[in-house]
Amino acid sequence: MCGIVGYVGKKDAVEVLLEGLKKLEYRGYDSAGIAVIIDKELHIRRSVGKLCNLEENLAKNPLSISARIGIGHTRWATHGRPSEENAHPHTDSTKNIGIVHNGIIENYVELRSKLEKNGKNFKSETDTEVIAHLIKKHYNNNLLNAVQKTLSELGGSYALGIICMNEPDKILCARHNAPLIIGVGKGENFIASDILALLPYTREMIFLENGDIAEITADKIVIKDIKDNNITTREIKSVRWDAMQAKKDGYKHFMLKEIFEQPRTIEDTFRGRIYPDEGKVHIEEVKLKEKDIKKISNIYIVACGTSYHSALVSKFLFENFTRIPTEVDIASEFRYRAPILNENILVVVISQSGETADTLAALRFAKSRNCQTLAVCNVVGSTMSREAMYVIYTYCGPEIGVASTKAFTGQLTILYILALDWAYKRETLAKNELKTYLKELWEVPVKISKFLKNTEFVNDIAKLFAHKRDFLYLGRHVNHPVALEGALKLKEISYIHAEGYAAGEMKHGPIALVDESMPIVVIAVKSKVYEKIISNIEEAKARGATIIAVANESDKEIKHKSDHVIYVPKTDEFVSPLITVVPLQLLAYYIAVLLGRDIDQPRNLAKSVTVE
Ligand code: G6P
Repeated sequence: MCGIVGYVGKKDAVEVLLEGLKKLEYRGYDSAGIAVIIDKELHIRRSVGKLCNLEENLAKNPLSISARIGIGHTRWATHGRPSEENAHPHTDSTKNIGIVHNGIIENYVELRSKLEKNGKNFKSETDTEVIAHLIKKHYNNNLLNAVQKTLSELGGSYALGIICMNEPDKILCARHNAPLIIGVGKGENFIASDILALLPYTREMIFLENGDIAEITADKIVIKDIKDNNITTREIKSVRWDAMQAKKDGYKHFMLKEIFEQPRTIEDTFRGRIYPDEGKVHIEEVKLKEKDIKKISNIYIVACGTSYHSALVSKFLFENFTRIPTEVDIASEFRYRAPILNENILVVVISQSGETADTLAALRFAKSRNCQTLAVCNVVGSTMSREAMYVIYTYCGPEIGVASTKAFTGQLTILYILALDWAYKRETLAKNELKTYLKELWEVPVKISKFLKNTEFVNDIAKLFAHKRDFLYLGRHVNHPVALEGALKLKEISYIHAEGYAAGEMKHGPIALVDESMPIVVIAVKSKVYEKIISNIEEAKARGATIIAVANESDKEIKHKSDHVIYVPKTDEFVSPLITVVPLQLLAYYIAVLLGRDIDQPRNLAKSVTVE
């Protein structure tokens, strides 16, 4: 959701803050602001809209001299519409304290009315402003004390960055259920909501835990427990990602770059983990022994958005290969439906960011019911990766486009490997079958690269359909979730209404929508359900629909059945989602470009949803 940055050191703080906010803008982009201290005075600049508006504001209202300390924020509105008054940083009435916040203060109404009764004037509609007033109320020449007292009154979630003009050389930060990282520099230190904002300056990072409060100066970082004030030691971790990975590299948009990166990110994710010739899988991170794997009675996979779609595919993988009954849940529903859980159940959470609030809550819920837990994450050091019993990382590098692409194929790669490995260990898959399936995966990057060599024809199809109001996406079996994902991609970035459906269900409703104006994207690659999907195509064609089929190069018949064909290399049906999703990502991308949409930062969305 919102993004936070903070800097203390010798550099120009405004430059560092803006640079950091640029990297975090994908988390939220309806307003942005910074607060810095110069000569013991707090200076604030805030603007509605994208970061460029804040930059313009700063150009028009420059600071007299460079600041060496400051905090910044990019917002995704929860409480209070996007406006300058609601933009962070917020302050107390005397403009002593500046504060940036990510999260939601659940008891803010009660706190606000108490403060108002005591004469405090509120300038915004946000939940955050109460924090600034409370800190001021408790302030007695000790910021740390005042913040500690304030935090004890707050309910809900927060990652906070706080500066105070009376103590102009320090930033205070604290976390509870929202991510916060300290970047460790030499003669300078940083805070940020995620790694990306820190990469240009340092790879040495401290991932704060819930209940941590830190006092940061240019030369010192002291972390304490919010409640008992005891000093806490947190390890400094060296992060593998580098700043170059977070650049567009000549591509027009991050999303396009990330689509084209997939051959490499899939390979990076499986390299060192699979050995097709020997029929061997090595997943170091999951320390489950064969006997433990055999004991798993059920698997629940829980996720949101695109990660939920990869979970849906993996249900087929786990059930088909391992024969373990597998259920998939939308994370925001999981804990409210009273799932039946126990210690023989494995709960797998899938999350690119590792921070999505609902998925994290599902993980904690599973832990509280004594389940074994496994997180599949992309962001190293993220909360889920630290809280789950086991974590397997996808090696996709930073994903910046808000619409997820390479994370999806990275997750599928992991889940495919895991299902095969466990199937072999549970003796539901023979060695030679394991070898065959691993080989299929091994060849996927080359096949996707081949497809990506000529994508102009996908753009040509996009040109024919970009003006349409509605789209239908159909698929069956493992490619049903891919149809859902294709529809989601189109919705997210082009704002065209699109629905994904199991092709066999079309007769039970969506067929009523079908007429000449309705394009239907059908995933019709060779598989055990191929004949069935061809029948579904015929049914739609008979009602005048225009069919865009995603089919195998070897399929000579399909062009007689559909209006347009996007050919993809053939692969085993269980691996096929890794390939069939790519043309759908591209189709959505090209349509959105033709419509002039904001590809990497579509309206109303955020990359990482850290509030429930
Ligand atoms: C947001 C993003 C989606 C993403 C979903 C889950 O809605 O816009 O692209 O799929 O969150 O995110 P996660 O980080 O948990 O995979």
